[in-house]
Amino acid sequence: MKYDFEDKVAVVTGSAQGIGRAIALGLAGEGAKVVIADVDSEKAGLLQKEIESHGQNALAILTDVSEVSSLDRLIGKVIDKYARIDVLVNSAGICPRTDFEQITEDEWDKVLSVNLKGVFFLCQKVFAHMKKRRQGNMINIASSAGKVGGIQVGAHYSASKAAIICLTKTFALHGAPYGIRVNAVCPGVIGTEMTMCLPRERLETYRKVIPLGTIGTAEDVANAVLFLASDRSNYITGELIDVDGGLIMD
Ligand SMILES: NC(=O)c1ccc[n+]([C@@H]2O[C@H](COP(=O)([O-])OP(=O)(O)OC[C@H]3O[C@@H](n4cnc5c(N)ncnc54)[C@H](O)[C@@H]3O)[C@@H](O)[C@H]2O)c1
Repeated sequence: MKYDFEDKVAVVTGSAQGIGRAIALGLAGEGAKVVIADVDSEKAGLLQKEIESHGQNALAILTDVSEVSSLDRLIGKVIDKYARIDVLVNSAGICPRTDFEQITEDEWDKVLSVNLKGVFFLCQKVFAHMKKRRQGNMINIASSAGKVGGIQVGAHYSASKAAIICLTKTFALHGAPYGIRVNAVCPGVIGTEMTMCLPRERLETYRKVIPLGTIGTAEDVANAVLFLASDRSNYITGELIDVDGGLIMD
């Protein structure tokens, strides 16, 4: 399926690697000007060069989504350069698998700051720009852990993802009168650095319980995001798409 993102400006957080990277490559491949907003400036810079080497458009901007001042700088730079933001994808996230009895206050604050505070404030700030143009599209990367809770992942992680699901619906309600659509994607087990560091036996256990019998790819998630970012999904807002091989059928 081909989409037309020609001249669209898309900001993708956490896009230096993994799922965000696949989303950035997918959007750039369909003609978007992609902003790679990541705390890892080296990998983000390399991705910018890779996208440019295909004759496509990208701009890496060092961003720590857990710092509101960093989000202000990000938006300022994007508006200065492109004068608008058409698509926002919140993919930045961290996933410490600490047992809930061992989670410290510092770790709780860190996970909630990156995974939730960053999403809320970036949506809030980008919303203000989209509202003026009475159009826009936001996609948040939640997780199946946000639906079923966290034993395989941390309690803080799953709580942050559950909150993202709720924020997505809240922003969708606020955005609808202005033509702003807001949706979320809930990946299951996806083969990125976040999961591939797990012991082989754990990954094998996952494979056994996934109805489609395999771990997903970053591109599987990117495909759902591209659909939601495109005008093929014009009548969809406040929705969650599970990309999990059938793990959760709700
Ligand atoms: N991989 C999975 O199985 C899986 C499953 C469900 C949900 N998710 C979600 O998908 C998203 C992407 O995960 P991934 O698998 O690509 O992980 P990843 O670890 O491969 O990539 C995460 C990216 O986020 C960036 N990042 C981390 N902290 C940041 C910060 N403070 N500011 C800006 N960027 C920051 C990292 O530098 C990295 O580029 C995350 O939100 C994750 O929770 C992943």
